Amino acid sequence: MILVTGATGNIGRALLKELHAHGAGPLRGLTRDAGRAVFPEGVEAVEGDFAETSSLKPALEGVRSLFLVSRLGSDADILEAARQAGVEHVVLVSSITVQTHPHLAPAAENLAVEQLLQASGMAWTILRPTQFASNALMWAAAVRGHETVHAPYAGTALPTVHPADIAAVARVALTEPGHRGRTYALTGPEPVTARQQVEAISAALGREVPFAEISREQAHAQMAAVFGPEAADAVLDVTGGDVNDELLRVRDTMSQVTGAAARPFRQWASENAAAFR
Ligand SMILES: NC(=O)c1ccc[n+]([C@@H]2O[C@H](COP(=O)([O-])OP(=O)(O)OC[C@H]3O[C@@H](n4cnc5c(N)ncnc54)[C@H](OP(=O)(O)O)[C@@H]3O)[C@@H](O)[C@H]2O)c1
Repeated sequence: MILVTGATGNIGRALLKELHAHGAGPLRGLTRDAGRAVFPEGVEAVEGDFAETSSLKPALEGVRSLFLVSRLGSDADILEAARQAGVEHVVLVSSITVQTHPHLAPAAENLAVEQLLQASGMAWTILRPTQFASNALMWAAAVRGHETVHAPYAGTALPTVHPADIAAVARVALTEPGHRGRTYALTGPEPVTARQQVEAISAALGREVPFAEISREQAHAQMAAVFGPEAADAVLDVTGGDVNDELLRVRDTMSQVTGAAARPFRQWASENAAAFR
């Protein structure tokens, strides 16, 4: 049994589809609300909340391979519950910031979870994706409302990754030999700026979406209201304020692991155009 957590999220939805299409299974998807989850036929939807580790017990029963999104509860308790349930292998979603910005608090938290997993006694594979193409969904309401999209660091090009590529690598790691004890940094196939992302969304919609660059201070004021000031600073550093070669580098992990090419941002935009209409 493979349990996919974050199963209704950007990676999890794509991963369940991938696993299902490759005949892997049996499959189970974790969500806090099974009534709202739409999974491929035959995938068992099971409820559980990371904030309440005991609620994960039914989901973990009989599971041998676990796809884990983290920092949504006590990861030490969650990993211990997985170990006790007999999980043999965990594929963990971490972040590339562990190696590009280790001084930032979210990166340190991700590293701590990686280390917990490595010390757990279970086999592990660690995925360190860069920023997701799906982060552009934060602009969806403005685009639907025919408003101007605002973003800072409009000229900084980052190798944004399609969540389906993370899922494709996770599927191989979960189901094929040779990926235990490996850490994979994951990026998209090319650097893309915020301005170019909005151009790709415009192309997908067939109309021009207006775009304007804002200052770090303006962006911080908006983000701090939602995530708090420290998290807002961390996001702004890794999206343009404090980038480095390690973050900007395009990697070929996707093709190395899966044999398929990484998907460009414009593909994500055309697949997700409905969210912006
Ligand atoms: N966005 C980025 O640029 C980026 C970069 C590096 C790493 N990451 C990491 O990637 C991971 C996955 O991202 P994603 O975009 O696929 O996810 P997402 O679309 O943001 O969805 C979040 C998922 O987590 C589940 N969830 C939230 N709170 C939960 C809780 N208390 N208990 C159980 N499940 C809970 C949700 O399930 P329900 O609502 O159905 O319960 C949903 O499936 C995140 O952990 C994030 O930290 C993101």
